Amino acid sequence: MILIRLLLVKSEAKRLDCFLLVIGYSLLVIGYSGRQKRITNIQQGISNKEVKSERHRDVIRRNNKFIWKRKHLLSLRDLSRRELEHIFETAAGFEQFSTRSIKKAPTLRGKVVVNLFFEDSTRTRISFSLAASRLSADIVDFTKKSSSVSKGETLIDTARNLEAMGIDIVVIRHNAGGAAKLLSRSINACVVNAGDGFNEHPTQGLLDVYTIIKERGSMEGLKIGIVGDIAHSRVARSNIWAMTKLGAEVTLIGPPTLMPPKVDQLPVNISYSLDDVIEDLDVINMLRIQFERMGGNPFPSVREYSHFFGLTVERMQRAKDDMLVMHPGPINRGLEIESQVADGKNSVILDQVANGLAIRMAVLFLVNQAAAAENKS
Ligand code: CP
Repeated sequence: MILIRLLLVKSEAKRLDCFLLVIGYSLLVIGYSGRQKRITNIQQGISNKEVKSERHRDVIRRNNKFIWKRKHLLSLRDLSRRELEHIFETAAGFEQFSTRSIKKAPTLRGKVVVNLFFEDSTRTRISFSLAASRLSADIVDFTKKSSSVSKGETLIDTARNLEAMGIDIVVIRHNAGGAAKLLSRSINACVVNAGDGFNEHPTQGLLDVYTIIKERGSMEGLKIGIVGDIAHSRVARSNIWAMTKLGAEVTLIGPPTLMPPKVDQLPVNISYSLDDVIEDLDVINMLRIQFERMGGNPFPSVREYSHFFGLTVERMQRAKDDMLVMHPGPINRGLEIESQVADGKNSVILDQVANGLAIRMAVLFLVNQAAAAENKS
């Protein structure tokens, strides 16, 4: 419009005025779109310099079209395929961080993240702390032993007292299934489940699937074996929901005494013999035997368990050459997996741990984003 006017104006002075108006308007448009792009990239944790590849630009374009709405991450059973993919896309953006000299983004500056751990943890707790730190949040570490829980204070009272001090995100691990959900209904802060009883361990499930996708490109059609103590495994449940939603075929493998109740209602195959199925597997996830959660003896001896269900060098010779070997940790070396296999060429166990950081940054970023949107509306 202004350009047309410019061409029609006869007076020299007016033409100059219009010309300056066009220049000013163009600079405004360029400045605004540049600012929007910078905001998007900062949200993703990527500086403009780092958005180099077409692949990353595609990821960001897709991400911008999807709006994450959950301020809590309680289970993978609840999530849609698109939500799972959105977490992976966001994590892929955050992975750029490990290559930067300054590994910090201002995304959670001024926010407080509490690690509320009622059970022991090495990987999950440290990984969440590091993720929160890289996003510039303040972090409070809570453990049952050093808190007033040892004097009888309940989970909800503990959380409400923490909330009174102005916390924003609670990362909770608890030995009771459903503890994270209960907490999410009792406080306003975002709640992230870091493992609740035998129920779910969503970020472990996410990092497992993310690791497989990075190795294989997709989950579609992969044959995945989850081996061992399925009955007591929250990791197995989160794995099952995420893997099957993304198109993998999951087989649970173990003795009948270590299968969970109502296993036939899960979207999986069952095998009581590792030797019967190992040749077909693209990925094997070896679970830890959770002696601390067992009432009686689910198998006659650890030697016998190892003989039938351990991932040994001899069994690996019958597996596909490129079968991925996974384990959520901590490992009972020599029981569920031989050391040479855990440390061997097929193992992605330490990649799982490394990928956990990007996944947890993505989860903290997304729940905070959903809470911010909720507060605005
Ligand atoms: N995989 C896992 O949850 O390990 P930690 O118990 O060390 O957190």
